[in-house]
Amino acid sequence: MNSITKSLLKSIKHGQAAWLRSSSTHSGKQCLPKLVLGIETSCDDTGAAVVDDAGNILGEALHCQKEVHLKTGGIIPLVAQQLHRENIEQIVKEALSISGVSVNELAAIATTVKPGLALSLGVGLEYSLKLVNKYKKPFIPIHHMEAHALTIRLTNQVEFPFLVLLLSGGHCILAVAQGVSDFLLLGQSIDIAPGDMLDKVARRLSLSKHPECHSMAGGKAIEHLAQTGNRQHYTFRVPMQHYRNCDFSFSGLQNLVNKVIIQKEKEEGLQKGELLSCIKDIAAAAQHAVAVHIVKRTYRAMLFCIKHSILSPKNATLVVSGGVASNQYIRKGLQILADANGFAFLCPPPRLCTDNGVMIAWNGIERLRAGLGVLHCTDGIRYEANAPLGIDISKRVEEDSIKVPRLKMKI
Ligand code: KG4
Ligand code: ZN
Repeated sequence: MNSITKSLLKSIKHGQAAWLRSSSTHSGKQCLPKLVLGIETSCDDTGAAVVDDAGNILGEALHCQKEVHLKTGGIIPLVAQQLHRENIEQIVKEALSISGVSVNELAAIATTVKPGLALSLGVGLEYSLKLVNKYKKPFIPIHHMEAHALTIRLTNQVEFPFLVLLLSGGHCILAVAQGVSDFLLLGQSIDIAPGDMLDKVARRLSLSKHPECHSMAGGKAIEHLAQTGNRQHYTFRVPMQHYRNCDFSFSGLQNLVNKVIIQKEKEEGLQKGELLSCIKDIAAAAQHAVAVHIVKRTYRAMLFCIKHSILSPKNATLVVSGGVASNQYIRKGLQILADANGFAFLCPPPRLCTDNGVMIAWNGIERLRAGLGVLHCTDGIRYEANAPLGIDISKRVEEDSIKVPRLKMKI
């Protein structure tokens, strides 16, 4: 079996798209694949992976801090920093060892430098710069949200431009990906992200004490309980209905849910922290309001992009990623929306929707291929806790004041 066949089989094995493979042969000669090590520490996951320029994941490792943060009821930045420090070396070594690649063989090292928790970003950057300087490797600083947005190009054949919706514990963004580092920001959350809201509701409902939800992330616990709840027992007003833009808001919705919880606790004579009998119905109604809000804003984004020919109605695609994108109820709502508007609907597999080293390595490959932001000198490189994604055209979206038609959404 020749090496091209081998590499093709490897692509199939890893479930990667073959369409991006252009660089393995050049002028009839076989070239060595370019390899990038990706390092992720922007929040509470320490991730590392080695990916080649054909999109093969050669090795990956991940350390999740979720269990620790669940106990403290949220991420304490100093604790997250300490855990990253304790794990980063091992995780990077593991990813390299699984891949069978030595640092010397890497074409570059890519690391998340923005946005995220400052203390967490600092650990990844410091460690990466040590490697970069020791082995004299190019460095590719990565924007965490750009990496989430581009992950789909590792797993599926998706050409630019496409509409992308990123839903996580820290972010809620609607953007158009026009190129590897070319984004139009259509809207984002004006307060908290949906994952953060669902985590807070889950904590207020004490779902970690529920026998079916032990050690589940808040959003996952809500989804699980909602499956057997009746959403029609409660109605939560969908946020921002009178704002014809693509921004999101979840803190008002969280307050509405809290009010109902307090009222129900009174009615049932329960103390805060004790499990309500109607927990599943509240979870279902809260999840429904989150889903409808997300679908409506995305609907407006689709109409805006088609109206201004930013996307072609013939081959428009909606990509959804981030931890909350693994929620099947929200996905179904978005699928209905995409079908109704002739958009293809794509999500990376769940393990690549949440934070990981693979997406950072892949973003490094994309940047390497495009020749964008590959640094040979790292003087003055800093991490940035806050960093917008792309060019903000959200005011332009609002000026259009597009009315979203009613959508029959029987999820
Ligand atoms: O992308 P991610 O792993 O980390 C960042 O926030 O960057 O997302 C984590 C968030 C958490 O808020 C978690 O509760 C939420 O994703 N999440 C879910 C589900 N699984 C995880 N939310 C809704 N439904 C789920 N199935
Ligand atoms: Zn993330």
